[in-house]
Amino acid sequence: MRHLLNPLDLTVEETYDLIKVAEDIRENPDKYCEVAKRKILATCFYEPSTRTRLSFESAMIRLGGQVLGFSEATSSSASKGESVSDTVSVVGCYSDIIAMRHPKEGAALVASMKSAVPIINAGDGGHQHPTQTLTDLLTIHTYKKKLDNLTIGVCGDLKFGRTVHSLITALVRYPGVKFILVSPEELRIPESIREDVLQKNNIPFEEVETLEDVMPKMDILYMTRVQRERFFNEEDYIRLKDRYILDMNKMKYASDDMIVMHPLPRVNEISVEVDSDPRAVYFKQAQNGVYIRMALIMMLLGLKA
Ligand code: NCD
Repeated sequence: MRHLLNPLDLTVEETYDLIKVAEDIRENPDKYCEVAKRKILATCFYEPSTRTRLSFESAMIRLGGQVLGFSEATSSSASKGESVSDTVSVVGCYSDIIAMRHPKEGAALVASMKSAVPIINAGDGGHQHPTQTLTDLLTIHTYKKKLDNLTIGVCGDLKFGRTVHSLITALVRYPGVKFILVSPEELRIPESIREDVLQKNNIPFEEVETLEDVMPKMDILYMTRVQRERFFNEEDYIRLKDRYILDMNKMKYASDDMIVMHPLPRVNEISVEVDSDPRAVYFKQAQNGVYIRMALIMMLLGLKA
């Protein structure tokens, strides 16, 4: 039995296989509409979510399976003081696979240690979010036809953004990848990512504070939301939240084939006017989240089309 807690739980080959299956699902959805018949996915979400939870549910339903779960801690026995580990042991009796989101770093790992069914980390605090990364890799592969030799700009909250940590962790395995990290001083990537992921793998990267200057060099611009819920004080959040706003004026600095990605939800960091630019792919990215989660559920449950 396998879990997905971190993007590195999948090899480069397995990741590529998932992308291929997801691309086939996108082309031929009917082929897959019964592969998970009589299987149940449980979503245990202790933190708010729209895309991740609903795309997991949509993925399972599109595979012919069924779903159950809770979408906030207050509606589960966590509000009575039950541990994550106990909840998961019980939910594993009611389902075949569990997608879990929790505000604490390492919660999915704790859950996986006791679980009788595969655990998928759907976000653990400011730590990791591997299925968003799979969604991102599928999107990059769709538009760039490759995952290597790319310059990826990542902008916004690089400190608390778990999607950023997972994406960088996954991408350093592809040759010729470079990063341009754009953030205010206070929201730079954590040491663990700078040292153990980027430096350790000899990945070229620069850390800058101004977006416009570096945009012409990017193949991909990955925008992120300032993670309000992880701030210790509201004043800092207010000071930093609107530091980067991507609008059509700034898009003039980007090449014609640069793509703009965002895990969503966005707050102010991308102006609505950018949505109609052909380079804005974030809504297609959200759609890709369903196909790649379908492929992942199939892999973890050993299902074939
Ligand atoms: C992200 C998350 O939850 O980390 N959302 C998502 O899953 N698409 C990004 C965010 O909340 O900013």
